Amino acid sequence: MTTPSNPAPLRLGIAGLGTVGAGVIKIIERTNELLAARAGRPLEIVAVSARSRDKDRGVDLSPYGWEDDPVALAKRDDIDIFVELMGGSDGPAKAATEAALARGIHVVTANKAMLAHHGQALAETAEKTGASLRFEAAVAGGIPVVKALTEGLAGNRITRVMGVMNGTCNYILTRMESAGLPYDQVFDEANKLGYLEADPTLDVGGIDAGHKLSLLAAIGFGTQVAFDQMQLEGIERISIDDINQAADMGYRIKLLGVAQRTENGIEQRMMPCLVPATSPLGQLENATNMVVIEGDSVGQIVLRGAGAGEGPTASAVLGDIIDIARGIRLPAFGQPIARLEKAVAAQSAAPAPYYLRTALEDKPGALAKVATVLGEAGVSINRMRQYGHDSDAAPVLIVTHPCSRSAIDAALAALPATGVVAVDPVALRIEEV
Ligand code: NAP
Ligand code: HSE
Repeated sequence: MTTPSNPAPLRLGIAGLGTVGAGVIKIIERTNELLAARAGRPLEIVAVSARSRDKDRGVDLSPYGWEDDPVALAKRDDIDIFVELMGGSDGPAKAATEAALARGIHVVTANKAMLAHHGQALAETAEKTGASLRFEAAVAGGIPVVKALTEGLAGNRITRVMGVMNGTCNYILTRMESAGLPYDQVFDEANKLGYLEADPTLDVGGIDAGHKLSLLAAIGFGTQVAFDQMQLEGIERISIDDINQAADMGYRIKLLGVAQRTENGIEQRMMPCLVPATSPLGQLENATNMVVIEGDSVGQIVLRGAGAGEGPTASAVLGDIIDIARGIRLPAFGQPIARLEKAVAAQSAAPAPYYLRTALEDKPGALAKVATVLGEAGVSINRMRQYGHDSDAAPVLIVTHPCSRSAIDAALAALPATGVVAVDPVALRIEEV
């Protein structure tokens, strides 16, 4: 019988038994008493689901029920929380999450792709049925940044959220610099280490980090999730030369996300940038994540920690589960759905210096033609270097004075017509964070 001294367990159905799912089960098995004390009731895994029933996952699944179909698990009458740890923006993850929320069953998920594309609709369903939709693990792994924004900083008008939110890209960029290795070689290393998502373009194309930033922007600015408005650029074209040139100038290249209020709307961008090597973001090594939040009252706060991996991600999942056990109910994006405004996409007019790398045909007047195009676009050159070379194409590096992104884009669009550009330019914003 359930009494105050013998409370009913909180019953979990866990779909997805990979890195994160197995990690959640291990924590529950290892520290159930501590979790029960914090949750005010024991946690009980009722049933689990994955594709393969026989795979060895390093955990004993025999005490738990099994469902081949995660949607069937989400529809079971004997669970209080459906824990979605399968991944994928659509397919079974979305179907099962919808099924659980539609029945008023709470959902805890680590699935940033699903939330970036369907977060608004899922949160609407949750609000209608009174279910919680929690996703701490979806952003920056073990860093409790969703909680920080939704709860601890609820008294602030958030002005800017930025950071490094993809551990794989940060690993690739820092390893290229420390080992002096080219992108392709470090990409292969990251693959062997199991860092890359099943579809690696999600990581190196900036999409995964963009998904995460879109969720933080929605919470921070009280807007509907607007991943489709994110300006996205990946790290695929960053060469060891870029890394070395940046280092020479006292900078490091980071896949940096910035979401901020501007006079015209919300700017969201996720792209490689140069940041000062001595800044906290510049010093971020390997797969670590960092999120910087600025609010009108709090000023700036910096959160740093493991952005991925079994333990850190499972830690975030458990934090959400315990909140639900404690009876804490929060709107998914920090405000009732009806209050979330449609985000208006904007680009900050604030000028920034840019780093441009290209190679020019080695013939008289080539540099002059490029300088003219930049000048006509309103881009003023601060520094320019041409490097020694064995081929017909001369590598050229230009650092501009602060200018707008639209001026840089205009110059980039006009450069091919000069007939002297041998390599598509790489343009990176220099961010004085
Ligand atoms: P994973 O290791 O690939 O595991 C995925 C699990 O989902 C596997 O157990 C797989 O079953 C199961 N699964 C896939 N499709 C299924 C289906 N149709 N029906 C039933 N089960 C299915 O993935 P993960 O790294 O744990 O990631 C899980 C989620 O957490 C993703 O949304 C990911 O983006 C997010 N996340 C991961 C990390 C991280 O560090 N790994 C960090 C933050 C967020 P089988 O094992 O039988 O194939
Ligand atoms: N692929 C992601 C990363 C996993 O590298 O950060 C954590 O979300």
